[in-house]
Amino acid sequence: MCGIVGYAGHRAATPILLDGLKRLEYRGYDSAGVAVLDPEGCLAIAKAEGKLSRLVERLDGHQPIGVLGVGHTRWATHGAPNTVNAHPHTDSSGDIVLVHNGIIENYAALRAEMAERGHDFASETDTEVLAHLIGVEYDALRAGANGFRPLPHLFAEAVRRALKRVEGAYAVVAFHRDEPNLLVGARQFSPLVIGLGQDENFLASDIPALLAYTRQAMTLEDGELAVVQPGGVQVYTLDGQPVVRQPFTVTWDLAAAEKSGFPHFFLKEIHEQPDRLRDCLRGRITEGRVLLPELDGLDLRRVKRVRLVACGTAYHACLMGRTLIERWARLPAEAAIGSEFRYAEPMIDDHTLVVLVSQSGETADTLASLYLAREQAAQTVAITNVVGSTITRYADTSVYLRVGPEISVAASKSYLGQQSVLALLALYLAQQRGLMEADEAAEMLEALQTMPDEIEALLAHTDRVEGVARRFAHVRSFFYMGRGPNHPTALEGALKLKEISYIHAEGYASGELKHGPIAMLDPDLPCLAIATRSATYAKTVSNIQEVRARGAQVVALATEGDTEIARHAHHVLYVPATPEALSPIINTVPLQLFAYYVAIARGCDVDQPRNLAKSVTVE
Ligand code: M6R
Repeated sequence: MCGIVGYAGHRAATPILLDGLKRLEYRGYDSAGVAVLDPEGCLAIAKAEGKLSRLVERLDGHQPIGVLGVGHTRWATHGAPNTVNAHPHTDSSGDIVLVHNGIIENYAALRAEMAERGHDFASETDTEVLAHLIGVEYDALRAGANGFRPLPHLFAEAVRRALKRVEGAYAVVAFHRDEPNLLVGARQFSPLVIGLGQDENFLASDIPALLAYTRQAMTLEDGELAVVQPGGVQVYTLDGQPVVRQPFTVTWDLAAAEKSGFPHFFLKEIHEQPDRLRDCLRGRITEGRVLLPELDGLDLRRVKRVRLVACGTAYHACLMGRTLIERWARLPAEAAIGSEFRYAEPMIDDHTLVVLVSQSGETADTLASLYLAREQAAQTVAITNVVGSTITRYADTSVYLRVGPEISVAASKSYLGQQSVLALLALYLAQQRGLMEADEAAEMLEALQTMPDEIEALLAHTDRVEGVARRFAHVRSFFYMGRGPNHPTALEGALKLKEISYIHAEGYASGELKHGPIAMLDPDLPCLAIATRSATYAKTVSNIQEVRARGAQVVALATEGDTEIARHAHHVLYVPATPEALSPIINTVPLQLFAYYVAIARGCDVDQPRNLAKSVTVE
């Protein structure tokens, strides 16, 4: 998830690009760059590692001059977050300039093909490969290449042809030094909007980048390409058919636009989970198999057991992951809290695979656990959201969540990403060990792939969860319970409520109820029971009855179509049917919303809860 911006007009481009990037910095801040072309074809490119402010400092007093340009703020997916990998990228002639947001899945094959033709690459990015590919198409067109050639501009046609060969997700904006009035933008599964001005036009990943200049905008849909010039914009499909698109007027103010119209980043990040999950899974499931080339360097045959280590929400993901690894890959697996693991003298050796899970990649206790695992010769894998974070520098290999920057202190989309990557890891280990029935593996892969659509459907109707949450906004305490893979879901639901509403909450394995916590239950302690379809559904219903018998109110989370549950619970929240093993992913979403609406009803500062920091870099 990166931010991109393009400008074609009559004003100085650089300040407009930098201002646009500032509004898009929430999309990524590993590095930033701009490229600006003056009407004589003089091209200037400036990049800096780190936040946008570093680039602004670098340009202080000598901003590139020109009235056409592109800018980029990066959230790394391929290649370390450094200046070389920062966008814009160019082709081998240096005349074609490109910024990109997304993941080009077949970049390795394209890169190999280009390398065979003698292309050298300056960076490790997938983006640079696309710049080279456009260059090849452009040269071929200039040399009189034949074939269907629907677009009037040579450069736009070259971009179209190159994109026809690309698999994956992208929003791109490109220009050629020889066509100084022309920007070409295109998208497939990554956002790009067009801003319409007076003798000037814009392209951007998101509306906030446009608002200082225009409120007239136009959408670009997946599989479309826009030719943007100061005097006008034409939209085509990638098959070259012209598209007629009506502009619309943006009515949001800037603050609302930065959160895509949501009142809080937490709610925005909950709602973007379907798209982020698609990004996370993209290219990792092909022809019924899990592809995790990041693990190629490990010797998995040596692994006799797996230890998963993390803190907070990431630890809850590990609890789910350990269940799946044992169930599918038949490897003994344990999950541990970082601050415990590091002092527990854990039994690890060169037959142990230690999986460290951390959104930030900077959590002190998780890092200390990593160092300990390394000292004891274990093989180590980091599962993190932040390319280039400390954890990635010390682990043997890293698998990225690809869910984009998480601004809210309370984790949401990173948890769904962690659960999904751990499910992929479990399936991958099972695949390597040849231990899983093909039917079951296929069912799980199918379920993972349909999960984003199901979460999208769920998020389209949040009124019910909001209504139920408001009823409980004034309780002092809440009890969450779940079984099997949904025991961690109960823990995570309780953690979310504690963090953002400051209501005391406890998560428990439902079967433990009778071993103590039942003593607390009374009409003032409501219970949220995870009762989605599972092998232990009947037992969960019994647990709900036990809770009810003590006068406690019960909110049940159940599978759509389960009418029986309404006879036992006071309130029911429904989720679509999913295999039990993967149900924690979707089951988490209503619990996030529940915590959010309780917190709002209590007037809490959802995005910055008291006493908390986004990443805990000290012990
Ligand atoms: O960056 P990390 O994933 O290592 O962070 C771990 C925890 O601090 C984090 O998950 C924390 O529990 C969240 N704020 C929970 O919402």
